[in-house]
Amino acid sequence: MRNFIVAIDGPAGSGKSTVAKILAKKYSMTYLDTGAMYRMCALYFLENNISLNKQENIDKHLPLINIDIDKDSFYLNGKDVSKEIRTPEVTALVSYVAKIKEVREKMVELQRKISFGKDVILDGRDIGTVVFPNADLKIFLVASPEERARRRMKDYEEKGIKEEYNKVLAGILERDFIDSTRKEGPLKKAEDAVEINTDGDTIEETVAKLGVFIGVARQQKAKRDGEKYDI
Ligand code: DC
Repeated sequence: MRNFIVAIDGPAGSGKSTVAKILAKKYSMTYLDTGAMYRMCALYFLENNISLNKQENIDKHLPLINIDIDKDSFYLNGKDVSKEIRTPEVTALVSYVAKIKEVREKMVELQRKISFGKDVILDGRDIGTVVFPNADLKIFLVASPEERARRRMKDYEEKGIKEEYNKVLAGILERDFIDSTRKEGPLKKAEDAVEINTDGDTIEETVAKLGVFIGVARQQKAKRDGEKYDI
């Protein structure tokens, strides 16, 4: 039986990672935060002060980036960088790093490798379109930029990071633009994805909606695999 794959794509702050984490626990699946992987690459380039404009820099440094993930902990070349990858500095740079073809190729390969043989929920921008175009369920989560900016502000507040609302909103709009207009793996709804708008929803409400789709997709898969599965 092939593993069960759920792809959750959508723009920054649409609630993907929060709900994906809860759903993975609820359905005993592995959760893979693919944005964190691009963030680790951005942190590497930031910490080592490497200009992204020179192809030779990318060619030289990309093979030196080693990524390990253990549950909620993210390791860059052996160091736990789970906190560092969420700073505004990394957030500001990451879209530029995620545009680089070679970076994407390396991350997509790693995402497939990590997911191999597992029941997995991945969240990102190109999961349903590029990483797993045959996913059992594809969700495209959206929310207004203002709502997403408010959520980011709350995240920052909880982490004790001070940021201005207008700056956060501008950052979200900028990232949306870069993520959706890039050539490689742009932020895009897969044709067969279910679009869900999370504006005004509590996390629990979004989780409940997605839970319905997961239940149905599991049942459909069990049918295809010739097994019985009760929702
Ligand atoms: O979801 P996030 O905010 O942690 O994502 C960080 C950045 O990485 C964001 O600018 C888009 C990019 N990204 C991507 O290009 N492809 C993915 N599968 C996941 C994230």
